[in-house]
Amino acid sequence: MAVDIKSPTIRNLEAAFAGECMAHAKYRYFAKICRAAGDEETAKVFEATADQEILHAFGHAELLFAQETMTPAKCLQYAIEGETYEYAEMYPRFRHEAMSEGRMDAVAEMDEQIAESKEHAEMFRSVLDKAAKRFAALARVEEKHAHHYQAQKDKISAEDRIAA
Ligand SMILES: [Fe+2]
Ligand SMILES: [Fe+2]
Repeated sequence: MAVDIKSPTIRNLEAAFAGECMAHAKYRYFAKICRAAGDEETAKVFEATADQEILHAFGHAELLFAQETMTPAKCLQYAIEGETYEYAEMYPRFRHEAMSEGRMDAVAEMDEQIAESKEHAEMFRSVLDKAAKRFAALARVEEKHAHHYQAQKDKISAEDRIAA
């Protein structure tokens, strides 16, 4: 098992981030329940509060994934890691436990999530691969330009030597 070198503050921020994300999703879901029950007023209160919770989550995310340290490739890498953890470790374990409790509804839910997390991981992977190819192509163009520039420079200095 990998050694956990995360500081308590990082761990707390991760927990707080998870909590605020959960509050956001939960209040959106509660709003749906309230609306279905005909209580539009309460639904609106939940939706407005959910909008605040996601901002709280963003505040934590800024500390966990500081903008100046992030790139699109890094975002994709983190996303692939998260989705891979879900389909390869988390959901299979949850599925196993649901199975031993005879909660077949939860087993079906876990199966669905395993498939979707896998799809997400593959989708992010293909976006990352495409981006990597794009960067490689750009690097080749830059290299060509650099060579061209160097050749021109060499030519000019050779001409200067002849003229001197
Ligand atoms: Fe909050
Ligand atoms: Fe996902």
